[in-house]
Amino acid sequence: MDAFRLDGKVAIVTGAGRGLGRGIAARLARAGADLVVTGRVLGALDAVRREIEEAGGHCLAVELDVRDVPAIGRAVAAAAAELGRIDILVNNAGVNIRSPALEVTEEEWDQVLDTNLKGLFFCSQAAARVMMRTGGGAIVNLASTMSVVALEHRATYCSSKGGVALLTKQLALEWAPHHIRVNAVAPTFVETDMTVPVLRDPDARQKVISRIPLGRTVEVDEVARAVLFLASPAASAITGVVLPVDGGYLTQ
Ligand SMILES: NC(=O)c1ccc[n+]([C@@H]2O[C@H](COP(=O)([O-])OP(=O)(O)OC[C@H]3O[C@@H](n4cnc5c(N)ncnc54)[C@H](OP(=O)(O)O)[C@@H]3O)[C@@H](O)[C@H]2O)c1
Repeated sequence: MDAFRLDGKVAIVTGAGRGLGRGIAARLARAGADLVVTGRVLGALDAVRREIEEAGGHCLAVELDVRDVPAIGRAVAAAAAELGRIDILVNNAGVNIRSPALEVTEEEWDQVLDTNLKGLFFCSQAAARVMMRTGGGAIVNLASTMSVVALEHRATYCSSKGGVALLTKQLALEWAPHHIRVNAVAPTFVETDMTVPVLRDPDARQKVISRIPLGRTVEVDEVARAVLFLASPAASAITGVVLPVDGGYLTQ
């Protein structure tokens, strides 16, 4: 079998209604996985579900705000009950609020950390409980170049993504005996709703691109293909890595 195929596997993607999550869900479905797409906006998820089904895939749409820990347990249980197993979890849901550190409010701190780090942890915990019953699985987290290097006005985001990088290694260590691999991708700037405020400003865009050795932003499917690799049997001996998908950003 092609080691990059996911036939017979069930994959959950959080925040799958738009942006990277949508592209990742589509890519995993094209690789043969049955998809569970989750997010806060059911209308957007239904559009993703229809797209996947029209392409011949199988998809379940489940409303989930990852800041609601009891709802995570219910969503994962519903997905496992409907599809019988969970093999892959992609922790994609995330937010970024840009403010000078001196102006960060408690509400902003909680919104970013609760979504990007706490939500990711409890989704992983809920999925891992199911994976342990069926022989293992793969978790792929959306980290960032800002897991490794800082950028101004990103105190909350850098804190959350730094946490994601180390949590990836910690869970990889703890769950390896259960045959659950935990990895992350660390993209640089990708053109999505999240980065529009930066990339639509020509000066800010130029500043970003000047820091990326390949001289361009990264495409959604370039991140999705890296996620597919880490989720697939092709990466069967890889766990605890944070894989840059960054056009060389982290070389400097
Ligand atoms: N774009 C980049 O340059 C870049 C670079 C590195 C890493 N990343 C990471 O990649 C991931 C996706 O980012 P993106 O660029 O695709 O951003 P985006 O276009 O803003 O999409 C964010 C996604 O996260 C979901 N989300 C936000 N808060 C949520 C919550 N509380 N519960 C459930 N879903 C929630 C959104 O769903 P709703 O429709 O419910 O709002 C949306 O689907 C994030 O973790 C981000 O940090 C992005």
